[in-house]
Amino acid sequence: MITIRLEKTQDHRTVEEITKLAFSYPERVERSKIGCCLEHYMVHSLREVDGINDLSFVAEIQGKIVGHIIYSNAYIQKPNGTKVNVLNFGPLSVHPQYQKQGLGTALMKHSIEIAKSLGYGAILFFGRPEYYPRFGFVEAKEFNITDCNGYNYPAFMAMELKKGYLKGVSGKFIESPIYNDDLNREQAKAFDENFGELFYIAAHSVETNGVVNT
Ligand SMILES: CC(C)(COP(=O)(O)OP(=O)(O)OC[C@H]1O[C@@H](n2cnc3c(N)ncnc32)[C@H](O)[C@@H]1OP(=O)(O)O)[C@@H](O)C(=O)NCCC(=O)NCCS
Repeated sequence: MITIRLEKTQDHRTVEEITKLAFSYPERVERSKIGCCLEHYMVHSLREVDGINDLSFVAEIQGKIVGHIIYSNAYIQKPNGTKVNVLNFGPLSVHPQYQKQGLGTALMKHSIEIAKSLGYGAILFFGRPEYYPRFGFVEAKEFNITDCNGYNYPAFMAMELKKGYLKGVSGKFIESPIYNDDLNREQAKAFDENFGELFYIAAHSVETNGVVNT
């Protein structure tokens, strides 16, 4: 059974390990140019800057953490200089041996509902256009919102949490600088060099049938 709950302080290291494991696929590591992904560093840094603790959730199976999502504060810069606050999210991570079993979906659905209940107006983010439309995301260009450089493409998506929140809000989407690889390579590499073994992953060997053994 999948349980989704708020991340606690004592989960931080485990969550960073799950994140590193989930994003250590060859294309991501190659694109990073530092020999590892940056996402475990992002999660770590978002806890200090721009991340939202009330929207940081873990997914558990039989009491063991196997997935995580965190949201962050972002905004749309309108041409007249005013800002409209929105949510961004990521990294979203599921332990590779637990992918395609509904954990990502459960994390998305739960977090969207809580974000709505907390009064947030909209979510914008960059992600896989094959995956996120099922949760209600559409291309951001439908709301006349571009990325910070003025571009649109399928991976740039948006969803209103309050109906009409993005109506008439055309402008540029500005996300936390923590997501920018170019700004964070050095710090992420240093963070990774001190990260050490994936102790949690190693200590909880995972069977392919989805049972976590302690
Ligand atoms: C993307 C991710 C979070 C999805 O979580 P998940 O628990 O595997 O997904 P679910 O079981 O809820 O959903 C499975 C569906 O998502 C699709 N899916 C899963 N990973 C996908 C991916 N990388 N690209 C496209 N579709 C993907 C599956 O094909 C499946 O589609 P179907 O329902 O039409 O068969 C997970 O694969 C992951 O952690 N990937 C590595 C990190 C990553 O890429 N994070 C997201 C960055 S945008």
